[in-house]
Amino acid sequence: MKRIAVFASGNGSNFAALAAAVRRGSLACRICLLVCDNPRAGVLTKARRCGVPVLLAERERFADRESFEQGIIARLRGEKADLVVLAGFMRMLSPAFVRAFRNRILNIHPALLPSFKGSHAIRDALEYGVKVTGVTVHFVDEEMDHGPIIMQEALPLRPQETVATLEARMHRLEHRIYPRAIALVLAGKTRLAGRNVRLT
Ligand code: GRF
Repeated sequence: MKRIAVFASGNGSNFAALAAAVRRGSLACRICLLVCDNPRAGVLTKARRCGVPVLLAERERFADRESFEQGIIARLRGEKADLVVLAGFMRMLSPAFVRAFRNRILNIHPALLPSFKGSHAIRDALEYGVKVTGVTVHFVDEEMDHGPIIMQEALPLRPQETVATLEARMHRLEHRIYPRAIALVLAGKTRLAGRNVRLT
């Protein structure tokens, strides 16, 4: 059974969706660890409720980013994690971290990359006036919201859309596609050819 570690900083609705997919059997893996950098995050309660071990790693408690990340990497190795799944982790991973798990880190972003990178993607797309936005699941490389794209799904905006309504619709879409994308990667059904991810 493959083992995934989920990284989250906030509410954790994606974490909950992944845990539910594992429970249902539609995502064949074990969530071996939740890594969280925020002691007030809602995701902590969700992880404890489903019995997922938690590593609370607060950046401020470490002298520098390197020692913060080295602690996390050591724990991931201890847990024999096959894949790192970022689900609202509000912190950039260093190039050294990315190298340690090259092509084994996934992220989900609430926009159709390469449009609207960054942490305000939903608001930015709405303010820009796009008619279609969506969700992207991609491999993580050294640049923010940049690595090879595994899966995208479009979401047409509705009249009278607000940040709140769009966020809710975006989350429903994320919860549906993230487990599917992770399952493909875990099953070895993705092949990298430069920036292109071929599904086999
Ligand atoms: C999601 O919108 C995800 O795309 C982004 O951060 C948000 C996390 O939401 N990277 P939640 O904590 O999973 O509810």
